[in-house]
Amino acid sequence: APKRIAVRAAKLIDTAQQRVIERPLVLVEGERIVSVAAGGEAPAGVDVIDLGTATLMPGFIDLHVHITGDPTSGSGNYYEDILKRSPIDEAVTAHVYAQRTLRAGFTTVRNVGSGEYIDVALARAIEHGKLQGPRILPSGLAIGATGGHIDGNTGFSPYLEFHNATGVADGVEAVRAKVRDNVKHGAEVIKFMAGAGVLSAEASVGAPQYTQEEMNAIVDESHRWGKRVAAHAHGAEAIRMAILAGVDSVEHASFIDDEGLRLAKQKGTWLVMDVYNDDYILAEYTRLGFPQQMIDKEKLVGRTQRESFRRAVRAGVRLGYGTDAGVYPHGDNRKQFPKMVEWGMTPMQALRAATSDAAQLLGWEDKVGSVAAGRYADLVAVSGDPLADIHALDAAPVFVMKGGEVVVGDGR
Ligand code: ARG
Repeated sequence: APKRIAVRAAKLIDTAQQRVIERPLVLVEGERIVSVAAGGEAPAGVDVIDLGTATLMPGFIDLHVHITGDPTSGSGNYYEDILKRSPIDEAVTAHVYAQRTLRAGFTTVRNVGSGEYIDVALARAIEHGKLQGPRILPSGLAIGATGGHIDGNTGFSPYLEFHNATGVADGVEAVRAKVRDNVKHGAEVIKFMAGAGVLSAEASVGAPQYTQEEMNAIVDESHRWGKRVAAHAHGAEAIRMAILAGVDSVEHASFIDDEGLRLAKQKGTWLVMDVYNDDYILAEYTRLGFPQQMIDKEKLVGRTQRESFRRAVRAGVRLGYGTDAGVYPHGDNRKQFPKMVEWGMTPMQALRAATSDAAQLLGWEDKVGSVAAGRYADLVAVSGDPLADIHALDAAPVFVMKGGEVVVGDGR
């Protein structure tokens, strides 16, 4: 018979129902939750984990990570490391970041761009119990235009070729083929670059990099295969084009204008805005060897993105929690919570963005994102009460459970 465990704590933040359950008793059988009650006794013969004064929540979801890379991974000059490494280097170390992510309380992530389907392989190894890490919804290769945000050798000698820049595709037929390739090799979500980026060589930060026809084709093809689409876009025009094409989420969304907010609201498009990222990039990326040109682009984006985030909260646009971890260290995913509260969300809204709301964007609302009967037993607990003070999330969680298995907090 599957093992039964009861988890007790001072409170449970039920983000899906927007309520707090006092003295919760969560009964877990095997990898699933069986029941959730306020107070009461655990059935006889069941192991009880009593978390005392801690606050329990659904395991967190990060909708925007790059699990295969990390700025702390190498020589200290991350910019040079990226140029010198191959996808094989990344494949060898990715499990380290997966484990850090899980131990930080993020039990599910959406990986939006990795070389050579490493994220697909990692997702499988974790699913089969070979490695410890979060549930991963992988995108495989991010798709983008020649010379654009995903084209790694832009600005270098034409005789240098980045072997892993294989998500590059131009034209309606080629982008459709890239989507099919990704699906064929296990992508569960499609990521593409609708516009220019910060940490890449193009001069603009935000200009569209695909035509409307190319964006339409990517979305049409992805949806035909039952895959949702995440579009990277900082600039107002690229954002509007992506929304009109029918993407499921716009990533970054830094310069979204009022028309973009209106369209997103009307079409139910999610925004996934990495509003902590700017702090780390401005503090560390010069030391990590990145060209001044990219730092200058970040300075154009950072504050405006946060102001846009506040406008999006006020406009009532759907917002999901996504950090771009990988640009900053994995395991620090939770640092974005206080930023989201500082820029307009209530703690409950920020927690929903990382749990029940995020699960909706994944299409995994029947599996993750809430503490309810039938869902995976993915739980996180912190000391203190994040609803009273979001900084309760600053410290590492005291307890993490994924699929009924205790990852943090059993004394290991
Ligand atoms: N990966 C993104 C890019 O290069 C990072 C942008 C980070 N900046 C920010 N303010 N969110 O475009």
